[in-house]
Amino acid sequence: MELPLGQMDFETVGTVSRLLKAAVVNPLVNYLPAGWLRGLLRFTRSELAAANWADPGGWRSMVISYNGQCRQWADKLLVAGGTIPMALRNRRRLAGAVLARLIDESAADPVQVLCIGAGPGIIITDAMLQARRTAEATLLDLNDDAHQFAGDLARRHGLAERVRFITGDARDIDKLTDCRPDIVKMIGICEYLSDQQIHQIVAVLAAVMPAGAVLVANSLSKAHGTDRFFRRVFGLNMIHRSPAQLQELMAGGGFGDFLSIGEPLGVYHVVVGRKRP
Ligand SMILES: C[S@@+](CC[C@H](N)C(=O)[O-])C[C@H]1O[C@@H](n2cnc3c(N)ncnc32)[C@H](O)[C@@H]1O
Repeated sequence: MELPLGQMDFETVGTVSRLLKAAVVNPLVNYLPAGWLRGLLRFTRSELAAANWADPGGWRSMVISYNGQCRQWADKLLVAGGTIPMALRNRRRLAGAVLARLIDESAADPVQVLCIGAGPGIIITDAMLQARRTAEATLLDLNDDAHQFAGDLARRHGLAERVRFITGDARDIDKLTDCRPDIVKMIGICEYLSDQQIHQIVAVLAAVMPAGAVLVANSLSKAHGTDRFFRRVFGLNMIHRSPAQLQELMAGGGFGDFLSIGEPLGVYHVVVGRKRP
């Protein structure tokens, strides 16, 4: 897949900032007592921290990181300068571009996209707006309130007629819809799922996807250097996997012909696999 990666507006970290993060900032946030850091975030009314405490890794914290514009000074530091939020914005741009390209390359008309753990629907909206061909999207999430946000977003962009919503667990997808998706998006979810859960979801997907359909997911590396901070302070227990480990899980469900594209901070790779005949 040819993508104009050089022209994409990715966020990067300069050498001095990278050294400063590795030598000073990351050790401080990783090893200062968690109670102090939580107290500081509460005192400064951090919206990112509050969103994670209410729902660790939930869709609202994604929206805060994607927007990148915050009112509280702690959020300005965390969201604008934190490696994970920067990498999340890079992943949004990369995944949106990959999905738009896959929509344009599909022979289906309209192209059916199923979004697993769709959350706020921001990435699929980006992709549908970028794609030249018409796609219809089914957004599946455990949370109704995520669907409300995604529905408003779709209406604002004139996409409401092409988006529908299902509330439920991805592992029940075969019972929740008769959609035979050409593209399945699993961005922003695998890092919260065990191998066994991914295995279950991929197996159910494989049963409903036609041969040649594509599954788009993402890996997560420890390159951000702040896993200990996120675990202790935000209660966020993310599972780190290499692109190869994720591909192995996808291969177990009958996917192959893999492609893996990294964002420049090296935190996320978007992994594309094709359903084998
Ligand atoms: C971190 S958010 C990511 C949202 C979106 N995919 C993105 O990348 O912007 C993860 C979303 O997955 C949903 N989710 C988690 N486990 C799920 C499951 N088993 N079935 C359906 N949705 C799930 C959560 O409710 C949440 O909205």
